[in-house]
Amino acid sequence: MKAILVSQFVSDPSTLRPSTVPTPSPEPDQYLVHITHCSPQHADILHAQGKHQNNNAKRGWCFPPFILGYDFAGVIQSAPANRIGRLREGDRVFGAAIGAFAEYICVTEAAIRKVPDALSNETACAMSGQAVSYAAVVHIAKVKAGDTVLVSGASGGLGSVCCMVAKAIGARVIALAGDVGKAEHMRRHMDVDEVVVMQHGWAQKVISLTDGRGVDVVLDNIGMVNDAIRCVAYFGRIVILGFAARKGVMEEVKMNKLLLKSVTVTGYRFGESGRRYPDELKRIWDGYLGMLQQGQVKPVLYGKYNGLQDVGIALADLANRRVYGKVVVKVADAYEGARL
Ligand SMILES: NC(=O)c1ccc[n+]([C@@H]2O[C@H](COP(=O)([O-])OP(=O)(O)OC[C@H]3O[C@@H](n4cnc5c(N)ncnc54)[C@H](OP(=O)(O)O)[C@@H]3O)[C@@H](O)[C@H]2O)c1
Repeated sequence: MKAILVSQFVSDPSTLRPSTVPTPSPEPDQYLVHITHCSPQHADILHAQGKHQNNNAKRGWCFPPFILGYDFAGVIQSAPANRIGRLREGDRVFGAAIGAFAEYICVTEAAIRKVPDALSNETACAMSGQAVSYAAVVHIAKVKAGDTVLVSGASGGLGSVCCMVAKAIGARVIALAGDVGKAEHMRRHMDVDEVVVMQHGWAQKVISLTDGRGVDVVLDNIGMVNDAIRCVAYFGRIVILGFAARKGVMEEVKMNKLLLKSVTVTGYRFGESGRRYPDELKRIWDGYLGMLQQGQVKPVLYGKYNGLQDVGIALADLANRRVYGKVVVKVADAYEGARL
């Protein structure tokens, strides 16, 4: 099969091209999935560069040689022979597992879910990674109607869905944009209350939008905890989701600043939380898929990417901050009879 194989870490992931590798054979408890779509994201860039906490030689995750990619959708080609699982051959599924930039992947049932009939594979692929955003807004930050919520990286995959979920709950949303062009696009195309460009004096602007009180919640996708502490209200909550702007270098935080404002800072690692608390994970997916099926959250798709040879272009577009919302690469043509 064709796949994006990382045989050694690369400084520029846009140079990655598909190569021919053996099609994987499923273990007795695994499904073989024919991938129809994959969705490159920020973490894939770090995985390819060896800068992510998942680049772990001991556990063998994302350590060369490995097939890049995480979010995918596809069709089950073969199911475990004992048929203990709920899924069957021909079912459309979406999920996340290292090795998704490929034509086939072997996964256990825990890594995949059936695509709801109302959704296409493309939509399911685009939205699969953003259950993180739903969980962060609803379960971790516990945003309520009337809260003011500040979202960093608001044009990105996680950030755009953080905005949608917070709006659906009835919060007032202030979205942060990296530049004037993105801000203009967000004002026209996103349902948010305010868009603030991250240029000189932006934190003061956020504070003035709350009449000096500060925001109730910050959802931080880029790594700006010190700025978040400046923007947050007394007893405010900050949820750390990611570090898209930090290029692998973490910031230092003065603890007295947290005390002075009685701020709560919570890190949230979706995958590990789900493995440890499967009942909570089920509630998260039920809530998130409910919002998706009711149209309260919708995919924001950037560009057109066809075939695994376009994965490098997609990674470059992400790294160069051209993307609004999500990138989806179509890997296989439509299956007969399946709505993809
Ligand atoms: N906590 C979890 O469980 C979890 C799960 C998945 C991903 N993550 C992490 O969450 C973060 C966001 O992921 P994502 O998929 O939403 O990423 P994304 O789609 O690439 O979006 C990131 C956004 O951050 C902004 N940004 C600011 N500085 C940037 C920089 N130097 N380089 C790139 N983007 C920059 C960009 O918007 P502007 O250009 O407008 O500033 C961009 O839209 C990543 O760090 C990812 O690894 C965390």
